[in-house]
Amino acid sequence: EKEIKILAIESSCDETAAAVIRNGREVLSNVISSQIELHKLYGGVVPEIASRKHIEKVNQVIQAALDEAEMTLDDMDAIGVTYGPGLVGALLVGVAEAKAIAYAKKLPLVGVHHIEGHISANYIEHPDLEPPFICLVVSGGHTHLVRVKDYGTYEILGRTRDDAAGEAFDKVARAIGLGYPGGPKIDKLSKEGNPEAISFPKAHVAEAPLDFSFSGVKSAVLNYINGCEMKGISYNTADIAASFQKAVVDVLVEHSMKAVEMYHTDKFAIAGGVAANSGLRKAMKAACEQKGIQFSYPSPIFCTDNAAMIGVAAYYEYLAGTRHGLDLNAVPNLKL
Ligand code: KG4
Ligand code: ZN
Repeated sequence: EKEIKILAIESSCDETAAAVIRNGREVLSNVISSQIELHKLYGGVVPEIASRKHIEKVNQVIQAALDEAEMTLDDMDAIGVTYGPGLVGALLVGVAEAKAIAYAKKLPLVGVHHIEGHISANYIEHPDLEPPFICLVVSGGHTHLVRVKDYGTYEILGRTRDDAAGEAFDKVARAIGLGYPGGPKIDKLSKEGNPEAISFPKAHVAEAPLDFSFSGVKSAVLNYINGCEMKGISYNTADIAASFQKAVVDVLVEHSMKAVEMYHTDKFAIAGGVAANSGLRKAMKAACEQKGIQFSYPSPIFCTDNAAMIGVAAYYEYLAGTRHGLDLNAVPNLKL
């Protein structure tokens, strides 16, 4: 049986990443060059700076991924690349690079949806996980409850009406002076706080029980801080972090379990940067155990943006016959 080796490239936001994946689920290398230090200065990702950094790093990162896998481009069977959604200038760097390699090496080109990548991260460490299952995708740009009907076949069951979960984490972190990116910092600070200290609202969307809304809880945190400052009373940032995190996690778990019941699934997974959150992992694990369903979650390194997950998704797309031409373009608002 022939081995299939895929070189994958990811550049949709602020990480330049490349990976080599063998037969879909085996990660031979996973190289990530993060721009966090650069964007920290501005409190968030600056799109043009991201693009410029990607173009500078992309070849180095690809070479490092090939070296780590002890392979060359001649060993590859296909090139996978994220072509949306994301920042257009950032995506274009990866797409142009992938097209150049595909052209020069006469390799099939497989464009991948970034969210399909996040979901596919679960296949890496759960060799027996196969569709159908339901996956909660929570990242800086997305909050989706997705029904994975088969490889490459998705149905969106619920989505955020306003802020993404990660975006709420980042904004609250900024408000309490933790800096960018806020998610991991709130996660850490939460451990020193009381999650019951402050009652923040848990927003539900009346006519859409699987949809999310996080702008309310974010505003409630900002109002709480302003209120304290106006009255001249001090507030405990660890309690704010813990109470905010609990409000978000509770809603994520509640809606996820509602979806599990509605669609009678026996397998549930989480994905995306916020899936690295320790509170979410713990609460979701307990909820799935209570329901007696299988729970999958990627290691933190495969939760936040990486190219290994893109390589896994590209493999299943490749098997299904997906091939993109050299006219492949970046699609910033690509639909799943
Ligand atoms: O998936 P990702 O790397 O990029 C996007 O596709 O958006 O997700 C980044 C988001 C950021 O908002 C970051 O604050 C959040 O994931 N994040 C976390 C944690 N680690 C990363 N949020 C909560 N807890 C964490 N441990
Ligand atoms: Zn992402």
